[in-house]
Amino acid sequence: MSKVVIAVDGPAAAGKSTVSKIIAKKLGYTYIDTGAMYRAYTWYVLFKGVDPKNESECVKLIPEVEIELYPDGKVMCSGHDVTRPIREPLVSSNVSYIASYKAIRLALVELQRKMAEKSSVVMDGRDIGTYVLPNADVKIFQIASVEERAKRRYKENMEKGIKCTYEEIVADVQNRDRIDSSRAFAPLKPAEDSVQLDTSNLTIEESVDAILKIIEEKTKK
Ligand code: CDP
Repeated sequence: MSKVVIAVDGPAAAGKSTVSKIIAKKLGYTYIDTGAMYRAYTWYVLFKGVDPKNESECVKLIPEVEIELYPDGKVMCSGHDVTRPIREPLVSSNVSYIASYKAIRLALVELQRKMAEKSSVVMDGRDIGTYVLPNADVKIFQIASVEERAKRRYKENMEKGIKCTYEEIVADVQNRDRIDSSRAFAPLKPAEDSVQLDTSNLTIEESVDAILKIIEEKTKK
């Protein structure tokens, strides 16, 4: 296969970005974190003092929002380095509202599809296998229990110096799962041709190995 497209979807904090990054590096593919794009848009909405629950005001900002993802993980939004602020709890707790607005999704999906045209990619998100790249060669739906996901995100935040409590993370993960799964346009759901992987009891290395095996099987000709 010359150009390979791998879609990794799943609920909040399931470890998609951690394993997707490792897999992309091992295979020499480009990693595209679509969640970072919705987070960057949310950061801009908050920066402008706009209410994230006000759809029409949020949508009006589309022409001003310019998002760039760099290979080293840096995220730029309209001239600001937002790499760190997009992981703050205020962005996390508002991002699912922004991601439920169809006009914003269409704008970001256009960008995502363009990014996937150029080279082999591992793209992670919520709707990659179902909507953004329905012809992806491999589709993974990565899940884990709410408790395990909250534990992982809490640890990650502590390591990054982001203040939060475990209880806040559980509530945030549950709230985002609910909004992401119930939105009208391109909701979170497994693609019919996806392979589901429950990583609740797997280490990062075990998750990576399991996904590499699935990729190998699906792409061998
Ligand atoms: O890393 P985490 O699982 O916390 O979330 P993320 O991948 O950074 O995505 C943040 C939020 O963006 C999600 O909760 C969704 O509301 C939204 N999102 C989306 O709707 N569609 C995508 N393809 C990616 C993210």
